[in-house]
Amino acid sequence: MNTTIEALLNSQIKYEAQASLQYLAMASWADAKGYNGVSDFFYSQSDEERVHMSKLIKFVNERGGNVIIPALDKPKDTYEGLNELFEKFLESEMFVTEQINHVIFECLQQKDYNVHNFMQWYVTEQLEEEAMARTLLDKLNIIGADKSGHYLFDRDINTIAANHTNE
Ligand code: FEO
Repeated sequence: MNTTIEALLNSQIKYEAQASLQYLAMASWADAKGYNGVSDFFYSQSDEERVHMSKLIKFVNERGGNVIIPALDKPKDTYEGLNELFEKFLESEMFVTEQINHVIFECLQQKDYNVHNFMQWYVTEQLEEEAMARTLLDKLNIIGADKSGHYLFDRDINTIAANHTNE
């Protein structure tokens, strides 16, 4: 396996693992605050990121590359409220998108069309996740500091997310 691409895929393994851990911390924060819907949402996002990570691990191993299981940073686990929580969620997804675009760019530079093809799944996935994070943050910005709005957001978030994925 091309060593530049191998290093980039290992970095990507770390970013997906870090996102999974971050969303777990977000789920736990929401759980403790009584936002059960938001908590379920982030538990499930955390699981999805773990799948993104393991898919990469399996791919690198299948291609005969050397996988490095990374050490992770402690995730942020306190938030001022739902608005900050979802701002951080969007930030995290935008960061991952940027990194995936970087991998894709290098695949073309290195003429590694096999990895380029594999990474297309991530491109599609990121488009969906980033759009969903934006939709949820837009809704929270409309709600502002209204407590009953937050109650309804928490009640409806998983329906909003499911409809978004099915669009
Ligand atoms: Fe797998 Fe949403 O980054």
